[in-house]
Amino acid sequence: MKSITRVFFAIALICAAPAMAETMREAVLRKAALENGLRPAEESWPDFEPEKAAVGKLLFESELLSLTRNVSCRNCHLDEFGSADGLPLGHGAGGVGKGVERMKSQAGVLSRNALALWGRGGIGFDVFFWDGRVDASSGAVRSQFGTMAPSDDPLVVTAHLPPVEFREMIGESNDTEWLRQGDVNAAARVHQEIARRIRGTPEIAEPLSEASGLDFEQLTYLQIAEAIAAFIRSEFRLRETKLHRFVFERQALTDQELAGGLLFYGRGQCAACHSGPYFSDLRFHAIPFAQFGFGFNGFGIDYGRYNFTQDPRDRYAFRTPPLYNVTKTAPYSHSGVEPDLAGAIRAHVDPLAEIDTSRLSALDRAEVYQKIARWSLEPSYAVELSDAEIAELVAFLAALEFDPEPGR
Ligand code: HEC
Ligand code: HEC
Repeated sequence: MKSITRVFFAIALICAAPAMAETMREAVLRKAALENGLRPAEESWPDFEPEKAAVGKLLFESELLSLTRNVSCRNCHLDEFGSADGLPLGHGAGGVGKGVERMKSQAGVLSRNALALWGRGGIGFDVFFWDGRVDASSGAVRSQFGTMAPSDDPLVVTAHLPPVEFREMIGESNDTEWLRQGDVNAAARVHQEIARRIRGTPEIAEPLSEASGLDFEQLTYLQIAEAIAAFIRSEFRLRETKLHRFVFERQALTDQELAGGLLFYGRGQCAACHSGPYFSDLRFHAIPFAQFGFGFNGFGIDYGRYNFTQDPRDRYAFRTPPLYNVTKTAPYSHSGVEPDLAGAIRAHVDPLAEIDTSRLSALDRAEVYQKIARWSLEPSYAVELSDAEIAELVAFLAALEFDPEPGR
């Protein structure tokens, strides 16, 4: 009996050893991560119908969704670029190839950087796009469809938008000129045309009709968008990361990752905005990134959230980007102006180190000053970070990569 007790005691000691060895710094980081909303990945998983997700994949990869039949969702949301496209600005209709190749082709160029899709449509993830132009955070879906929103699921509403955006999935030509009215009716005509094509494509229409419980001729763009949303919810759901294993399974981080984590939740103030299960508060803040490209508002200007609220306090504010797999989605910011993570972090705390104002016109300089004035209300304003600390933050962000999955 005695020896058995001793064995039990020894096992109990071994099991307790990692907990006993936990340093103060590790304990602080674990507690901070939990307090700021980190949860096991499965807790964010939404319900979705697998049959719809399977046909959603076909639709996501089909050029039939492009009025000019030359681009699919996949062209800008690619696995090798962490579900974005590796380019500063999205390159849509008419483009050929991927990555830098695509930039050399005759693609329609968008005004913004492609967003990754991780966690989109997960539990509580209900604000979409850089400017939140589809927003269900108040309960009802607010979007450009006004009271005619096609669904009360914000991801389904979101999936209605790419096919009706010029340069994204509609090429510019005389044939598409009538769409420039950009009103809800023009969008409806595009959706009707796409649904007509899909009804005429049995390899997609058959599984879609089965998954939706409708006859072929009853299929509309709504069922298409629902299938795409199911695909996004299944394919891009959150997975475990090194940080999850550190917090929930007590595995170790390197010293640099640990230091970066403590900065992230502590003096660096990152979790003031990059919080919750998705590393985003899904709210809007102004970080004075330099602007790149012609900008959503033209003339190199992007007013961000302001475009949808017309509230001057929202000028230059963008939805806090989630940070899973952020190491794979360079370049960064709403206009893709920052080629690397260190620069993207520095822009939060020392924006003028990232903007060469001497090369700007007087008008563009004035724009920068206004952005900085708006930023001065944000918590990042009073933060100072050395290059070594920024490198620690970069190491911590790399611990937010999904673990590789066997067979993928
Ligand atoms: C030409 C490139 C391009 C194509 C094609 C494209 N996207 Fe995107 N996608 C983008 C860009 C750029 C953004 C960010 C736009 C913005 O926020 O203003 C984006 C944003 C999104 C978002 C919002 C993510 C978030 O964090 O809120 C979703 C969802 C999405 N796309 C799904 C799709 C689907 C579905 C299709 C096909 C029907 C598609 N995209 C086609 C470039 C593209
Ligand atoms: C005041 C809110 C706020 C704080 C604090 C904050 N961020 Fe951000 N962060 C944002 C917003 C908003 C953007 C996007 C702004 C834009 O593109 O114009 C962003 C962008 C980023 C990006 C680029 C992501 C991408 O996909 O393009 C990274 C990386 C990042 N933040 C990391 C950090 C780190 C690390 C800290 C702490 C040092 C931090 N952030 C602090 C709000 C914040």
